[in-house]
Amino acid sequence: MSNILCIGAGYVGGPTMAMIAKNCPEHSVTVVDINQERIERWNSNDLPIFEPGLLEVVQQTRGKNLFFHTDIAGAIAEADIIFVSVNTPTKKFGEGAGKAADMQYWEKTSRDILQNSRKPEVIVVEKSTLPVRTAEAMARILESGNSSTRFSVVSNPEFLAEGTAIQDLANPDRVLIGGEENENGHKAAKTVAELYAHWVPRERILLTSVWSSELSKLVANAMLAQRISSVNSISALCERTEADITEVSRAIGMDTRIGAKFLQASVGFGGSCFRKDILHLSYLCEYYGLPEVADYWASVVRINEWQTDRFFQNILHELFNTLAGKTITMLGFAFKQDTGDTRDSPAIPLCEKLVGENARVRIHDPKALENARIELKNLKGDVSFVEDVYEAADGAHALALVTQWDEYRELDYEKIHQAMAEPAFIFDGRNHLDHDKLYEIGFNVFPLGKSPLKHI
Ligand code: NAD
Ligand code: UGA
Repeated sequence: MSNILCIGAGYVGGPTMAMIAKNCPEHSVTVVDINQERIERWNSNDLPIFEPGLLEVVQQTRGKNLFFHTDIAGAIAEADIIFVSVNTPTKKFGEGAGKAADMQYWEKTSRDILQNSRKPEVIVVEKSTLPVRTAEAMARILESGNSSTRFSVVSNPEFLAEGTAIQDLANPDRVLIGGEENENGHKAAKTVAELYAHWVPRERILLTSVWSSELSKLVANAMLAQRISSVNSISALCERTEADITEVSRAIGMDTRIGAKFLQASVGFGGSCFRKDILHLSYLCEYYGLPEVADYWASVVRINEWQTDRFFQNILHELFNTLAGKTITMLGFAFKQDTGDTRDSPAIPLCEKLVGENARVRIHDPKALENARIELKNLKGDVSFVEDVYEAADGAHALALVTQWDEYRELDYEKIHQAMAEPAFIFDGRNHLDHDKLYEIGFNVFPLGKSPLKHI
């Protein structure tokens, strides 16, 4: 039996540890965080993150072999295996600002581990997404003191996506574990692999070097995001040529060499990781003297920003080039469906641009209003957050769908249309709705990457 600890009780730390606790009942799993309020919510039934199926897994294990608290030093002292899952945002200051990873939380954690570890051997697992060669920096910090503990650093990046975290953790495509190239490193990597082997088939547990593991995580996100930017760039071409992006995505996705996933045109990808990780990858390439490679990846982010701006420009243009005093209702604010997470959501720049035109913006989202309020707290303008979707659409000039929540397909659009200003517009930033039906009801419909359906 081992004492497993996770530092960082966020979108990754909470769900991954709940899954390990569920599948490894002989081990004790503790999750700590500096954020007291977050920990209190992990100890309640009002979890700090919305994730389908998560509460059930937490309820099965919490208080048995899964514990949440804020005594970081005490928990480190007892731990045999420490997962580090703190945030690694883009640096906002100094050298590499706007591109490099901000490693301050990571370094603070490394020092906490060095200072408080008491067990003779401790495995430190990088769960956060980190620039390549971070494990080396961590090992140097851990070896810098007079600690009697022997540390091994293992890279085990997380591939879960929000909204499907529980199924991704229960049935992962692969678990990646990178170990140091020495006997101790191999042993540590095998110990971590044994945890996952409780529920993941052995052939899906991939053992690599630390550096390959760190780099693979950044590249996986960059490749996924690149597919979306590629499709989004083609959506613009479709709008000019009367081709239909849904048909194009389907046709190319049926080529098994390309595959059907992540070819859905959108108002832009969001989330806390794609933009950040591509910028980190690009910065890494710059650092290693590869400016052309850096620019190639940076263009994935540029196309993404352009796509959100294109969506906004379309609203402005179609509403007769003036939004001043007009009400625009945003259907959804989360960066994708089935999560309350709003980090780097395309809804944020869209809202800023609308407010910049003196539009009145009403925001609806079934799970993300609390985070939307925080995201926009410094935005000056006429912005309101409305819990009832019909109230949000009442008197509006246009609806802009940003998040593909299932419930937006089920709304009574006849009723909504009657309560809206005429002519009524709908801009579907996810191609999520039944466009022909909306047109029949009387809407002017603007999908992405296909011809608009206009009455005027
Ligand atoms: P998060 O912000 O939700 O959680 C991080 C937590 O770490 C916060 O609760 C914060 O209070 C805590 N923390 C920061 N410094 C600390 C310290 N010194 N001691 C204790 N706690 C501390 O972030 P997240 O979304 O869970 O992401 C964590 C890492 O995992 C990032 O590197 C991210 O790139 C990566 N990742 C995220 C996802 C995802 O879907 N969100 C998926 C895969 C990988
Ligand atoms: C993504 C990856 O999918 C995970 O494997 C990875 O672990 C995670 O980043 C991470 O490192 O944080 P996540 O950001 O949670 O997961 O969600 P995704 O499902 O990847 O969606 C990201 C964004 O792309 C969303 O805004 C989504 O709406 C958008 N998207 C996705 C599209 O616009 N089109 C698509 O076809 C697919």
